Amino acid sequence: MRLSPPRVNWVFLLLQIIGLVFSKSFEAFSFNRFELEHYKNETKELFDFAFDNYLKLGFPYDELYPIKCGPKTRNFTSPSEIANDVLGNFSATLIDSLTTLAVMGDSIRFENAVNLIKNYVPRDFDIDSTIQIFETTIRIVGGLLSGHLYATDPAKKVFLGSRYDGHLLESAKALADRLLPAYLTQTGLPIPRINLKHEFNNLSPELVDENNPVAMACPMVEFTLLSYLTYDDKYRHVTRYAFNKTWAQRSDLNLLPMSFNPQNSLPYNQLTGIGASIDSFYEYALKGAILFDDEHLMQVWEDAYLALKVNAKGDWFFSNIDSEYGQTATPWIDSLSAFFPGLQVLGGDVDDAKFKHVMFLKLWNTYGGIPERWNFQIAEKEGTNEAQLKDLDESAKSTIALEWYPLRPEFIESTYFLYRATKDPFYLHIGWNILQNFKKQFRTECGFAGLQDVITGEPQDRMETFVLSETLKYLYLLFDENNELHFDRGNVLFSTEAHPFWLTVEMKRNYERHRFFNDRLYKRHLKNVEQRELSAQRGSPLFHMFRGLSNSIFPKDLSVETRARSTTAYQPDIVNRVCPNLENLQCSKNTMSSPMLTSFDRLFEVNWRYAATLIQPSRLLGSTPMELTQPFYDRWYDPAQSKCRVKPTTLSFEMAFDASLPGGQTKNSNVTANSLNVNTLAGYRLRIEVLTPGATDIYGMVLDTRYFTNISLKNVHSPRSCLQFGNRSPASVYRITAIDGTPLPNGFKVKLNKEPLFSSSSDVSSLGYNSQNILLLDCVPVVNARLAA
Ligand SMILES: *[C@@H]1O[C@H](CO)[C@@H](O)[C@H](O)[C@H]1NC(C)=O
Ligand SMILES: *[C@@H]1O[C@H](CO)[C@@H](O)[C@H](O)[C@H]1NC(C)=O
Ligand SMILES: *[C@@H]1O[C@H](CO)[C@@H](O)[C@H](O)[C@H]1NC(C)=O
Ligand SMILES: *[C@@H]1O[C@H](CO)[C@@H](O)[C@H](O)[C@H]1NC(C)=O
Ligand SMILES: *[C@@H]1O[C@H](CO)[C@@H](O)[C@H](O)[C@H]1NC(C)=O
Ligand SMILES: *[C@@H]1O[C@H](CO)[C@@H](O)[C@H](O)[C@H]1NC(C)=O
Repeated sequence: MRLSPPRVNWVFLLLQIIGLVFSKSFEAFSFNRFELEHYKNETKELFDFAFDNYLKLGFPYDELYPIKCGPKTRNFTSPSEIANDVLGNFSATLIDSLTTLAVMGDSIRFENAVNLIKNYVPRDFDIDSTIQIFETTIRIVGGLLSGHLYATDPAKKVFLGSRYDGHLLESAKALADRLLPAYLTQTGLPIPRINLKHEFNNLSPELVDENNPVAMACPMVEFTLLSYLTYDDKYRHVTRYAFNKTWAQRSDLNLLPMSFNPQNSLPYNQLTGIGASIDSFYEYALKGAILFDDEHLMQVWEDAYLALKVNAKGDWFFSNIDSEYGQTATPWIDSLSAFFPGLQVLGGDVDDAKFKHVMFLKLWNTYGGIPERWNFQIAEKEGTNEAQLKDLDESAKSTIALEWYPLRPEFIESTYFLYRATKDPFYLHIGWNILQNFKKQFRTECGFAGLQDVITGEPQDRMETFVLSETLKYLYLLFDENNELHFDRGNVLFSTEAHPFWLTVEMKRNYERHRFFNDRLYKRHLKNVEQRELSAQRGSPLFHMFRGLSNSIFPKDLSVETRARSTTAYQPDIVNRVCPNLENLQCSKNTMSSPMLTSFDRLFEVNWRYAATLIQPSRLLGSTPMELTQPFYDRWYDPAQSKCRVKPTTLSFEMAFDASLPGGQTKNSNVTANSLNVNTLAGYRLRIEVLTPGATDIYGMVLDTRYFTNISLKNVHSPRSCLQFGNRSPASVYRITAIDGTPLPNGFKVKLNKEPLFSSSSDVSSLGYNSQNILLLDCVPVVNARLAA
């Protein structure tokens, strides 16, 4: 029975107004504007607390120790330490926090911060510090540029007008001038580090030999913006050349390896994914396209994203894969990849973003933060003592490859983007939970400390600059419906460090009118590099690629034993269910509902699918998963619309088909909502479900035995003998349930052409068909794949 449509409840509204006037109270989890404003205020208070303490106890040094409560500086006695990468002795926390003050509309603190930068940070950045170029670009150059945009925009609350002299832009330029020599390599690709005072002098080889696509390609966005604002085109040209060249290193699958030698542009390995070292490459292709209205960057984003979908995409996350062959290459995913759902929202793929975001929600539920690396599959460790694994925290530990959570922003960032796109209170509720964590678990005497170890809960005495510049900024924006940014109709977007960037029509016009490029050094250098490149291409080796027809190492279904071990009494009962136990939840008859909570029918799938590697440490025993907080559920769950898929009992596996199979030269296809027409399977990655009578399939249906009797194994055409199957109807059949990582709806059909696959010269030994033109794979019928003559 459907409940009556919502009506304005005047008495309730009146009470709420009275409540506001007299007690400033609100009804929790209604997420009305009073409540949102309250959480926004709380977030601001948390930020002020840590920022003010930084100024009092940490400034002018780079960071504040949140537990020791003193300044954290670079290690001056050990200049070649990698720990110095982001600690340039240039008041990093101050500069990186500047735009959070701007976003929060805190004019007093903003102006004070601008003055502190002017009076304390060395004007010309002539500092004897070896630092990482990418991190310095996004935190410091980006912070200064965005601060400059805010200070000079009359529409902004923190506009400084005549009280501002352009100092932030001058500083950004001075710093960029000290970073730019990193691009003077044989290849035009930057080395990862430089000394701000002495350039290349005293740089040990291990500090400059290895670089990654993000660090080589991404300064392009900040530097291009700098060119727009200063009219000096050398920043744009030099970094854009490196961006182009980085993308040119991609494999035939359009995938970029994650590690290169910038001196000769050769990759060190073939690993790729969407996390550390490669994350912002995707991000800045799309964001650069939007900010600079650049079609070439848009094409890079589209090609790169498609390559990820074809090769790396699963239902719940993108895997790390081999960039040449496309197969899964690591059993873990990393914390940084939690940003990707936010990027998918920006790119328009909200549906898939919801799936990918759920994975990180479950990780937060399990570990109280996002571990730096989580194993979705546990390697079979030799000599692992079963008794040892019985200990809860030992089991939990085996699921974590890197155990820290330094309050990274990516999960809350994606939560914010998904909320803006869907307005589903589900995402506000996640923000509310994280706010509680900040108030209770992460707050220390003078700042915020993340976790050194998510298993033990040991805190980490570090407050990286991104805590104030990103994590708390996105949390604040989640609750701030009325932020200036949310009404902006221009091309404003967030840099990878959450600094808002925009370009007005007028700024673009001025740039086109005044741009110049008269720096001989860089001009000559780019020319030389280009010429070297051209002469090298003639002799360069070609990569031949063969993917083969093979099982990928996609996680197999867990054995009964593993599952049993991970679901014994120590987890709250509710998470072990396929669907939540609704009898225990007294759902009020509320007409408000959260689509994620109510009709996202796979919300609890991750719980059982990864039960063996989502093991809650003992310190979190008994904690309620965010999405099941009782009062939240009471208010936002709508039983009338409820959907929750039951757990399948079928097995599934994946296969990738070589692009060089007959007919696979072009990946022509014709897709509708429930069918796909393709020439052959060449170049596709399929997920195949093994159907047996009586099993529950992935759509939650019990398979009728009649389903199997209709399929004939007579008159089979197959290069391989299928005699062992006799003429009986098959005991099990296959069904294609996902193509290139995209799950297919129930009833979806795939139609193939018979001609290219089964012309006499090109029979593929594992493929065949029966008299009904049903495709056979190793003699097993694939019930939703038909061949057209
Ligand atoms: C939030 O803070 C503002 C400014 O301090 C204040 O005026 C407002 O009443 C606060 N709102 C709530 C709901 O606490
Ligand atoms: C700085 O580096 C030196 C040499 O590696 C080391 O002994 C010292 O403990 C470091 N100091 C700090 C504060 O980390
Ligand atoms: C580091 O910064 C502090 C504070 O601005 C300054 O006093 C000190 O001289 C700087 N040290 C070096 C080596 O640059
Ligand atoms: C980068 O590539 C695009 C597309 O090929 C080209 O238009 C542009 O000139 C290149 N930029 C540089 C600096 O090489
Ligand atoms: C795709 O489908 C349309 C409509 O059914 C048809 O006209 C067209 O020929 C098809 N294209 C290919 C490449 O199969
Ligand atoms: C089996 O085949 C008959 C006749 O072709 C058809 O009517 C029926 O729907 C089929 N049953 C199933 C379960 O596909």
